[in-house]
Amino acid sequence: MKFFVDTADIAAIRDLAATGMVDGVTTNPSLILKSGRDIIEVTREICELIPGPVSAEVAATDFEGMVAEGRALAAIAPNIAIKVPLTWAGLKACKVFSDEGRMVNVTLCFSETQALLAAKAGAAFISPFVGRLDDIGLDGMDLIAGIRQIYDNYDFQTEILVASVRSVNHVRDAAKIGADVATVPPEVLRKLADHPLTDKGLAQFVADWEKTGQSIPKAKA
Ligand code: G3P
Repeated sequence: MKFFVDTADIAAIRDLAATGMVDGVTTNPSLILKSGRDIIEVTREICELIPGPVSAEVAATDFEGMVAEGRALAAIAPNIAIKVPLTWAGLKACKVFSDEGRMVNVTLCFSETQALLAAKAGAAFISPFVGRLDDIGLDGMDLIAGIRQIYDNYDFQTEILVASVRSVNHVRDAAKIGADVATVPPEVLRKLADHPLTDKGLAQFVADWEKTGQSIPKAKA
C-alpha cells in the first residue's frame, strides 16, 4: 500500500519524507487555505521534495475553466496529478487530461457508480472520502470494498486512493480491503507506529540495559 500525505504543510512533508514512508502528496483548496501559501509556490516546493504524484486541485467548476487551470497546474512539475471534482464537467476534463497522458485524481467520490465513471474517464486515481461517509452514519469502508470489487471485475487500472482518512483503523481497514493508496494527515501517519506495549517494552529494555553496565561500541558513520 502506498502512503500519500494529505497536507500542504512543507515542514510536515519534509519531516515525514525522511522516514521513507511518503509515496506522494495530496492537496485541496481547504489544505491550501490552511497552509496560508500561494498554490503555485507551495505546490512547486512539494514537487521538489517528493518525486511521487503530487495532487493539485483545480478551483474552477466549469469544463473549460478546469482544463485551463489543470494545464497550468500540470506545468508546475512532471509529477503533478491534476485533481478534479466528480462532476460531469470534472469527468470530461479527466478524459481530456488522461488522453494527453496526464495523471488525474478524481476527488469527492461518494459512490461506487461515481468511481466507475472516473475509471472509464481514465483517472489515474479515484478519491473516495471515507471519513465524510462515516460522519453521516454510513460506512466509508463499504465504499472502498465495492470499488475494489468493481475495478477488479473489469481490470481497471485506476488506483483507489482512500481519502478523508481520520484514524489508524481507516488505514488498517483500507489495507485489508486492498486499496492501492491511503492519503493520510500527518498526525494520523505518525500514529501508525504507536503502540502502548511497544513503549512499555522499550522502557523495560532501557532500564534492564542500564543495569548491565555495558555499552555497545558505535561504528563510525
Ligand atoms: O483527502 C481529503 C481530505 O483532505 C478531506 O478530509 O477530514 O476534511 O473529510 P476531511
